[in-house]
Amino acid sequence: MAGTVRTHRALDVVDLSEGTEVTLAGWVARSRDMGGILFVDLRDASGVIQVVVDPSELPEAEQLRMEYCVAVTGTVRPRPGGTSNPDLATGDVEVGATGLEVLSPSDPLPFMVDDRHDVDELTRLEYRYLDFRRPDMAARLRARAAATNAMRQAMASLGFLEIETPTLIASTPEGARDMLVPSRLRQGSFYALPQSPQIFKQLLMVGGVERYFQFARCYRDEDFRSDRQLEFTQLDLEGAFWDEEDVRSAVEASIVAATAAVRPEASAPGFPTLTWREAIDRYGTDKPDVRFDMELTDLSEVFEGTEFRGFGGALAEGGVVKGMNAGALGLSRSGLDGLVERAKELGAAGLAWAVAEDGGSLRSPIAKFLSEAEVAGVVESLSAETDDVLLLIAGPWRSSSEILGQLRVDLGKPKGHDELAYLWVVDFPVFEETDDGGLAPAHHPFTAPHSVEEMRTDPVNALSRAYDLVLNGTELGSGSVRIHDPAVQAQVFETLGISDDEAERRFGWFLRALRYGTPPHAGFAVGFDRLMAILVGASSIRDVIPFPKTQRGVDPLTGSPSRVEEAQLEELGLDVRPEIKAAWEAD
Ligand code: AMO
Repeated sequence: MAGTVRTHRALDVVDLSEGTEVTLAGWVARSRDMGGILFVDLRDASGVIQVVVDPSELPEAEQLRMEYCVAVTGTVRPRPGGTSNPDLATGDVEVGATGLEVLSPSDPLPFMVDDRHDVDELTRLEYRYLDFRRPDMAARLRARAAATNAMRQAMASLGFLEIETPTLIASTPEGARDMLVPSRLRQGSFYALPQSPQIFKQLLMVGGVERYFQFARCYRDEDFRSDRQLEFTQLDLEGAFWDEEDVRSAVEASIVAATAAVRPEASAPGFPTLTWREAIDRYGTDKPDVRFDMELTDLSEVFEGTEFRGFGGALAEGGVVKGMNAGALGLSRSGLDGLVERAKELGAAGLAWAVAEDGGSLRSPIAKFLSEAEVAGVVESLSAETDDVLLLIAGPWRSSSEILGQLRVDLGKPKGHDELAYLWVVDFPVFEETDDGGLAPAHHPFTAPHSVEEMRTDPVNALSRAYDLVLNGTELGSGSVRIHDPAVQAQVFETLGISDDEAERRFGWFLRALRYGTPPHAGFAVGFDRLMAILVGASSIRDVIPFPKTQRGVDPLTGSPSRVEEAQLEELGLDVRPEIKAAWEAD
């Protein structure tokens, strides 16, 4: 729709016949003076059209500057022979201006509003509204809207109800730090912003909703990374009388819809599955990037009974020797030693490298400790060819695999740039051991174990009915089959060291809800910003979030977070500690 100020949008002009009178409105993307005639590239949300202005007839044209907002009246005509611009959708036509009105002038620009100039991110965020006028960012906003629409339609057509859950809630245990909002009416009390709608969607299942979804804003006070923000968006869903298969097919339908909307040229994605144990074993991570091979191999059998103490010691303690063929990296000796340093930084006691040579021998600092059979076993197990770099680590299964897995990510290169490699990882452990020797939920405490008995007797090794969806080595989303038996839920709290009293105080209302005929249920949340970043090829989720925070949690446009008036604090019954105020003064 063109609106009332204009008759057409820039892109519409392509379909109009010569001589049609139009009024267009948009921004001056470029203006060139060619011997007294102005060639103005007029940009609106649909695209760019060339407008030709003769300032002797339209003296207002002399005022035009970059990014002025203008309305132009004129007639459509083909561009004269040889002046077509094949890079522009409207490149064969132009509008000869007969009228011009400046709707709104622009201050001098902090940066050029185009994709040809690199602009530092802080400036882009400070002037985000100008950043949106750049074609790349405008395309990302459109892609995000297209994906949202497509996923909504996919969910609705599967019979899901879109239901909003509150964002001022009681603190719930999801593993990250809560963002808190002080209450004015109950001074000294706080709302938490939801880390996710987890508990509410489970209550909807108790309430008989059966199929729920929501584009949910979530808040987590976490340290920043390129794929993390304080507030982010999930496509959150839950279903009753469901198990893993049902969740996966609903999630896949939504992902396929988003992919088709944003990357129509991409072939329909496949969704292979690995268990968590296989993922760690073969890729050293629970989010493998399967766009390239370089799998890890267990070499423990090769080194059974080895004389080499570095490996023999680890095996005697129940550990493993794991190896990886990193290919012909062409690294110098110091480059190879650099890999050892990197492995140590990652927590390895050591890393052995070996370079395969003609005739099946190995060049390596540890070669002299290895028997002929061991060398042959390594070469064969890792399918080593001349010049391949082989990396070996001995130690506990999990940490050795994970360190090698990190080197795999450092050294491996995906084949195709645009490839989308999805992967389900299933059967995560129920609990993770914490640094202080306790247990924390590997997913969240509402996740069902495969066996309640195993969870009771062997919590460290018990597996859960949790699953993640991974895309190109990024955790795209997580979910699980939930506990619907209040006794099992209470047992999980107990295993986590939450006393009956504390569980009653913090989650009594939830445990009570579970006692009213709760259906078996399961669900999932897709990290929508992460999905969008990968689909549009952005290196950070900040590029697909309209108004993100910087790595330091700041919004350079509005200046949040900011200090508030004393009076506001007083109303809330709060005060800022004197030493913090003193630090403000010194600021
Ligand atoms: P989880 O905590 O794994 O699961 O979150 C689901 C997905 O949300 C995305 N995500 C983030 N994206 C940007 N910034 C962040 N700080 C951030 N944190 C998480 C990730 C992640 O995989 N309630 C459960 C889901 C369920 O069990 O149904 C949950 O929130 O892509």
